[in-house]
Amino acid sequence: MTPLDPDYDCPDCPRLVAFRNRYRQEEPDWFNGPVPSFGDINGALLIVGLAPGLRGANRTSRPFTGDYAGDLLYQTLGEFGFAKGHYDKRPDDGLTLHNVLITNAVRCVPPENKPIGAEINTCRPYLTNTIAAMTDLKVILTLGKIAHDTTVRMLGYKLKDIPFGHGNAARLDNGLTLVDSYHCSRYNTNTGRLTEDMFRSVFQKIRDIL
Ligand code: URA
Repeated sequence: MTPLDPDYDCPDCPRLVAFRNRYRQEEPDWFNGPVPSFGDINGALLIVGLAPGLRGANRTSRPFTGDYAGDLLYQTLGEFGFAKGHYDKRPDDGLTLHNVLITNAVRCVPPENKPIGAEINTCRPYLTNTIAAMTDLKVILTLGKIAHDTTVRMLGYKLKDIPFGHGNAARLDNGLTLVDSYHCSRYNTNTGRLTEDMFRSVFQKIRDIL
């Protein structure tokens, strides 16, 4: 069966392997591998992030966990009933996800949080396999343009036909709805590009669709 997540020693992206290996040396207590998806594979919602943060998901092994972006994401998931328990920035905090799976466009931490095109393309099959395995999937929420673009390409559409826009909801021929949000990164929340209310509105839209 095709894997949903890359192997811990996935060799496919030389730059990411080198970066990962550097941190396996420097920080042997960190996870330092491709971060698997987290949540409910039978869920109706898939959230696609960008890539693990160096000291966040790359350290803890769970998407957005320990990353600044995870504070707003997990808080909002809790408010809308997609998460239960207390998010404590640790993979063993007991937090559970309901009706939602979280994944990343690129599974390994990229230098400076910036994956290159070849890495996004190389990692896309894992997104393809994940979406194929989600038989009850209804909505895909993409966080930021990179997540949006790789998802649109994966689904076989042209970027010009489904442009990225915060709050956009595109109903696709296959019945799925693709919803966009600005990424809940520290940069976007600190600059006011994304406020908590804007992020909540996106989840309200998703709730209404589901
Ligand atoms: N951590 C993740 O796992 N994904 C992101 O997109 C950002 C931080």
